[in-house]
This record gives sequence, structure tokens and C-alpha cells, in this order.
Amino acid sequence: MKHTYVADVLASNELHQEFTVKGWVRSFRANQFLALNDGSTINNIQCVVDFENTDSELLKRITVGAAVSITGILEESQGGGQRVEIKAKNIIIEGDADPEDVKLTILSPKRHTLEKLREQAHLRVRTNTFGAIMRLRHKLSFGIHQYFNNNGFYQAHTPIITGSDAEGAGEMFQVTALDLNNPPKTEDGAIDYSKDFFGKETNLTVSGQLEAETFALGLGKVYTFGPTFRAENSNTSRHLAEFWMVEPEVAFNDLDDNMDLAEDFIKYVINYVLEHCDDDLAFLEDRQVQEDKSKPQAERATMRLRDKLKFIVDNDFKRVSYTEAIDILRNSKPNKKKKFKYPINEWGADLQSEHERFLVEKHFECPVILFDYPANIKAFYMRLNEDGKTVRAMDVLFPGIGEMVGGSQREERLDILKEKMSALDISHEELSWYLDTRKFGTCTHSGFGLGFERLVLFVTGMTNIRDVIPYPRFPGNAEF
Ligand code: 4AD
Ligand code: MG
Repeated sequence: MKHTYVADVLASNELHQEFTVKGWVRSFRANQFLALNDGSTINNIQCVVDFENTDSELLKRITVGAAVSITGILEESQGGGQRVEIKAKNIIIEGDADPEDVKLTILSPKRHTLEKLREQAHLRVRTNTFGAIMRLRHKLSFGIHQYFNNNGFYQAHTPIITGSDAEGAGEMFQVTALDLNNPPKTEDGAIDYSKDFFGKETNLTVSGQLEAETFALGLGKVYTFGPTFRAENSNTSRHLAEFWMVEPEVAFNDLDDNMDLAEDFIKYVINYVLEHCDDDLAFLEDRQVQEDKSKPQAERATMRLRDKLKFIVDNDFKRVSYTEAIDILRNSKPNKKKKFKYPINEWGADLQSEHERFLVEKHFECPVILFDYPANIKAFYMRLNEDGKTVRAMDVLFPGIGEMVGGSQREERLDILKEKMSALDISHEELSWYLDTRKFGTCTHSGFGLGFERLVLFVTGMTNIRDVIPYPRFPGNAEF
């Protein structure tokens, strides 16, 4: 039977016409007002049930969480709160939801904590909050593809299973088809991966960058957008073991072009959701206002969600070199009483998140692009500057988030790249395919990686990364 989605019914002007809607009961008040949601929008359609003329057995089965199909006439609503409603003529229960069972779940109509929602990750998509976040997640993803397509980029589907460690940080999940209870061994007793499915040791990708570089040096402008995996033991509200990363890579772009691209790209996708997701953003904005009421002043959001997003779109990001940032941090105190937990004593140290947040939230009060980092705290593939000690790296730091983007101009000079790899003990043989790009028509090129969940976190105003991905993977958590 043909039915209409709630979003379309709510926008319809076809009063006095018959519609069929299908969805899940969100509430049923006074045996009369049934709020139905089908996921197409944050808003419910109100269906008015004629309870005197409805079978009492059927009425009993209209309970929160049940799936129903309702056919009725669209009318202007007399009550406040909604423009239109459906006068139900025919109600079919597609799937019951026993109220006693529902009571034990997050489907029960009361306020549940986000922790509770996480424990029932398979049901949370039926809540307003998580539904709004997931619709926004989709729209952001769509806006990302749209931005690249509009600007002449090609998507490169880089492999998930790979033999390389792009970041050289050794945080990889190993992939094996060997029987690890009884693995084949080499002469010296180590597991013999040459007998494995791929005939070598492989892992889940930590970044599609190296493969994307090979594509950029042929297709010009490319991007990857896929899952990436990090076996780092980080139990924070900003880290996941499985997250999605967007990685553009552009031939003939230098670091300045790379910064321009990152800023333009981020502004575009944030503006895209401002233009296409107002209902969900409004809901999350109200939610934040409510949540903030029970928080101390210092922890409350300083701007309303949509104003915060508009601010990003309308203002330039501040570009600051690592060296300038260190000078600022050395001469600053995070507040009158407190010093940094990790004081900055010397040039060359990596910045901690407290430093990044100070720069963005207290000092500049806008997104900051830090560039020209010390070579020895960054990955092997970044282009060495003329000073011999810094590399053309850039991190985009965001208020409330910290590092949203990490990228660089790549080392395109074969001899210097090889020297660096040798110094870090990275096998030239294993990466011979990568070195080939520097042998055959090498050129200036740059790219970056944006952590998709960190962007979703910023756009939704949520505070824990585990609440913006359907099934978060983090240490100790992969139940299904
Ligand atoms: O800074 P990262 O490690 O950079 C790279 O992987 C480069 N190869 C990217 C490139 O140049 N193509 O990661 C990029 C971004 C970070 O800025 C952060 O937003 C996100 O990925 N990220 C994570 N997000 C969630 N959980 C984690 N464990 C993350 N690790 C990095
Ligand atoms: Mg980084």
C-alpha cells in the first residue's frame, strides 16, 4: 500500500485529502492524540483517533514503540503545536510493543541519559536526539561529496586492508586468516605470514593518504571518504578505534593552497547543513539550552548552536605558525590561578589538547590553522622546510573539539624522502610503490584528513564522539 512520509505530509497543503502514514508511536495521549514518527523528520504527525468508534482491543495495542499504519484525512489542526493533523479512519498495527518490555528500554517516554542511550545503541535511533544526529550526519556526508564533485575532485576508493602504516605510529589492527591457535611458524619461531591469505602481514588502514597520493598524481584532484582504524588505547570523548576520515589530495597544491582548501571546504559543509537541516539543528540547539541549565556557568555553551555555526562560516580562520603559537603559550596563563598542566618550556614539544584549546577558545576565539611544526613530531611524508627543522604540516583546531584536521604538503623530493624513511627505519622496499610516485614525474602536492565524527560532533553540539556514530568502537566496546 502506498504511503506518504511524515516530512511530506507535514509540508503538504492538500487539506481534506486522504493520506496513509506509517511509523512508530511516540506518544498516545488521552486515548486520542497519537504522535507518530517515521524518521523522515524530527517532527511527529499528530493523528487524532476517534476512540468512541475504535475497537477497544485495537486501542489497547496503540502503545509507545508500536509500528502502525494510519489512513485518514489531513485537516488543519485546532490545537496549538502543529499546523496539520490526520483524522484517523483506519488503524493497522504492524508490530506490537509490549508496554512492560518497553518500560525497560530507552523507548520509554522519559528523559534518558546519553550513557543509557549508548548501552542500547540498537534502539537509540528511535530517540529524537540520536535521530537528529544521524540525519545531520547523513547531510554532512552528502554535502562533503557535493563539495568535491562541484570542485572537480574524483573520489578514490582506497583499500581498507593494506600492508602499510601511513602514519608510522604502529597503531594498527592486524588482519589475518591464519589459525592463530596453530599458526605456521618460520624457522626462528615467529608466525609465518607468508602462508597467510595475502601472503604477507596486513592491517586495517589508518589512513588512505598514501594511496590517495598515487591517485592525485594522475587524476589531479581526488579525495577518499572511508572508515579508518586506530588501535590506540584512547578512552576519550574525542577518539574512536573506528572512525571515518575525509582525505583530499591535490597535485600542484602547496601548503597555502591546502589551508585555503581546508577552510573553504569546512565552511561549505557547515553552511550546507545550516541551509538543509534547520529542524534538526533547532531541536539540538533547544536541547543544549535545556542541558546547560543544570550546568555551572563555565561549562555552558557560549553561543547558541546555529549562531556558532554561522560564526564559522562568516569569519576567517586564524593562521599561526607553530613557533608563534609556542611564544603565545609561553607568555600565557589559561586563567588567573591556574598554569598549564603541561607547561611549554621548549620549542619542539608537541602541543597537548589544553594548549590547542587555549589558543582556539581563549586567545584567538576562532578556528586556528597551526602550520610549520617541528619535523620530529610529525609523520615521515611531510615536506621539510628550508630551515631543516620544520615541516609543512598543518592542523586545523576547532573550539570545543581541538584537532579537526591534520594535513601537510608532501615531501616530493625522492632523495630527501628516502633519507627521512631511513632515519625512521621505514622500509624502502615495502613502500617502493610510494617511492615510484617521486621517481616518475614527481610534483608539489598536498592534502589533509578531516575526522568526520569530530565534524559531526561540532555541528551537533554534542560532547562525546561516541554519540555521533551508529555503533562506536573504543577499547572494550564492540558488542555487535
Ligand atoms: O592527524 P591524522 O592522524 O592524519 C592522518 O591520518 C593523515 N594521513 C591525513 C592526511 O593528511 N590525509 O588524522 C586526521 C584527522 C585528525 O585531525 C582527527 O580529526 C581525526 O582524523 N582522527 C580521529 N578521529 C577520531 N578518533 C581517532 N582516534 C582519530 N584519530 C584521528
Ligand atoms: Mg594529527
